[in-house]
Amino acid sequence: TGEMSGCPFHGDGGTRHLLGRTNRDWWPDQLQVDILQTEGRNPDPMGPDFDYCEAFNALDYKALKDDLTALMTDSQEWWPADYGHYGPFFIRMAWHAAGTYRTGDGRGGASSGQQRFAPLNSWPDNGNLDKARRLLWPIKQKYGKHISWADLFILTGNVAIESMGGPVFGFGGGRKDVFEPELVYWGSEEKWVNEGVATRIIPDEGKALENPLAAIQMGLIYVNPEGPGGNPHDAEGMARDMRETFARMAMNDEETVALTAGGHAFGKCHGAAPSDTFGSAPEGEGLHRMGFGWLTDPEEIGKGHITTSGIEGAWTPNPTQWGNDYFRLLFKYDYELVQSPAGANQWTPVNPDPEDMAPDARDPNKKVPTIMTTADMALKRDPEYRKISERFLNDQTALDDAFARAWFKLTHRDMGPKVRYLGPEVPSEDLIWQDPIPAGTKPSDSAVSEFKQKVLDSGLSVSELVKAAWASASTYRNSDHRGGANGAHIRFDAIRNWKVNDPEELGRVLAKLDELRGDMSMADAIVLGGAAAVEKAARDGGFDIKVDVTTGRGDATEDQFDAESWEPLEPFADGFRNYLKTKAEVKTEDMLVDRAHLLGLSMPEMTVLLGGMRALGAVSKHTQHGNSIGVLTDRPGVLSNDFFVNLLEMGTVWEVVEESGDEEFVGKCRLKGDVKWHATRTDLVFGSNSQLRAVAEVYAENGNEQKFAEDFVKAWIKVMDADRFDIGYQKYHK
Ligand code: HEM
Repeated sequence: TGEMSGCPFHGDGGTRHLLGRTNRDWWPDQLQVDILQTEGRNPDPMGPDFDYCEAFNALDYKALKDDLTALMTDSQEWWPADYGHYGPFFIRMAWHAAGTYRTGDGRGGASSGQQRFAPLNSWPDNGNLDKARRLLWPIKQKYGKHISWADLFILTGNVAIESMGGPVFGFGGGRKDVFEPELVYWGSEEKWVNEGVATRIIPDEGKALENPLAAIQMGLIYVNPEGPGGNPHDAEGMARDMRETFARMAMNDEETVALTAGGHAFGKCHGAAPSDTFGSAPEGEGLHRMGFGWLTDPEEIGKGHITTSGIEGAWTPNPTQWGNDYFRLLFKYDYELVQSPAGANQWTPVNPDPEDMAPDARDPNKKVPTIMTTADMALKRDPEYRKISERFLNDQTALDDAFARAWFKLTHRDMGPKVRYLGPEVPSEDLIWQDPIPAGTKPSDSAVSEFKQKVLDSGLSVSELVKAAWASASTYRNSDHRGGANGAHIRFDAIRNWKVNDPEELGRVLAKLDELRGDMSMADAIVLGGAAAVEKAARDGGFDIKVDVTTGRGDATEDQFDAESWEPLEPFADGFRNYLKTKAEVKTEDMLVDRAHLLGLSMPEMTVLLGGMRALGAVSKHTQHGNSIGVLTDRPGVLSNDFFVNLLEMGTVWEVVEESGDEEFVGKCRLKGDVKWHATRTDLVFGSNSQLRAVAEVYAENGNEQKFAEDFVKAWIKVMDADRFDIGYQKYHK
């Protein structure tokens, strides 16, 4: 994969919308409740004062787990449990809740209960999981605010595994539900996978999987189980698609094999009915269906004539019992290609021994052939996967351990640092993907002021210090709670050398801070250096404002740092520093909004931060006009609202710099024509977009100078402290 395919916004050319295809596009008739969510009105009925972590800690955890265990075998007539056990069905529910996570932008995943909402509730790959959620409703209702849907999905998956004798590594709670669909880019295709949309990877046409997407077609969690584009004979392509999509969610080969084989130790595929016998997905169903979808005749359901994926059959003779039958059968038999009753491609053992047949899902006395999907066959057909599979075939303990750990990672990957996990089953072992950071010590107030003074006397400029602090803290992503200033990962070469960081300058600044910090952590020193610079800039601008950032950060050690897992955190554009690595498929200003969203910023916060940072001269050198681009002030380094004043000044006319590909502009004096300023799209958008302009006007107005400075400092502190969960979560760990 080249540099471009690593870009989170690079696809096949042409411009696309930031969000691609949205719910409104898929379901134009959908009720538009979002008009009630405008003007800052919150759709969350629990309100801003509800503390879910506290409520979760007061949960009767054991009673909930007992109820979930009992639910596993409490078969309901309206959706009978295959083999009398809902466990496999719930595992699939939990896996699909977690499986939307992607490393590219940290979005997706189980952490906010998104599976309840469109589009995910209606993705073809999530077929019939609406039934799984409704089976859980009585339990959700019983425990109410003490368990979120998001936590319940995952905990139910764990209980399902345990109740069938499978290995579990632990559970961390604390996923707070949201009450609206998250706005996530799921792709731009206008059709779902089952309506014939093209597959996203076609090597012959030079088509790589567009970042940050992690699924091979629209509406799938990962790959097409029947093979690339439905072709069961393309063994190589199947493994390639699996490897790429699983990597996008942070899984290596061993984890991929363990998860797929371990998951398919349980349950069955559903493809017993022709696929034209069931109704629309939930979001497009009639009102009286009450949010249920994929409906079919209840009598047929009773008989097990259900189609979900279209593939039909179980993988093993014991679909509700953990064990090694999956690998045993995979290697014991040759498999031949057959078609399911629904017409899907699938594989079945040639001449199976009677004891290797599976029970019928509704009638334990009836025996039916087992199956493998084309994806399962890849675990034997791909040489690398095969080595791992053979090891697991002969070592049940290794499989147990690998499956338990990979399942834990799958279901917790999007929760961020371990301090955010709550409850009695949080494993004590630290795992590298949790980005562990040693506890820091808080420097005294006098040590902090002394340090700040030394920094200001050191010869480092405001711009250099602000850029260093921003480089460190702005790696944070609100999506999967990774990155941030804590840990001082910025000092590792792999991060410092990101082009956006002006590595040489940053190296010099970090070396100086290291020299001055005494026994303070490097992570604190970087943030305090920035705070000192902002305070000085404010003073020079005539504002007396203290930049009260937290302290007590720790420094991660080399062996707590997984460089590869940090790669997707590199920004390909950072509008706040006026940086663009390569022109992408999404407009540069879209990338600014995207980054602001990942930092958890509101529109005014984004606006004031950007304008303030421009005034401080904190811009990247990697543009044609180096460190002056977007710095619309005659006194860089002084905190002022000059950026907004000069941007909105009617005496300036802006022209495109031809050779910049519509990325750079010059501002000329309307009367004399001489060049006054250089700017980019992310500068001019604050004058061009009507909503951003309205905010920019507020900050340019006479009388709002103090407000500007205070708002800037507040937003600055918000970014600096965005990852300090260690403070906020202390009280939940008593
Ligand atoms: C079911 C494909 C990975 C757990 C299924 C079904 C398909 C499928 C086609 C049948 C759905 C239906 O018709 O009801 C795949 C593919 C995978 C994959 C292509 C990756 C390459 C996983 C993973 C897990 C998992 C990672 C969990 C760790 C399950 C379970 C079922 C299932 C438990 C049975 C559900 C039931 O009995 O109702 N999978 N899967 N799968 N999958 Fe997977």
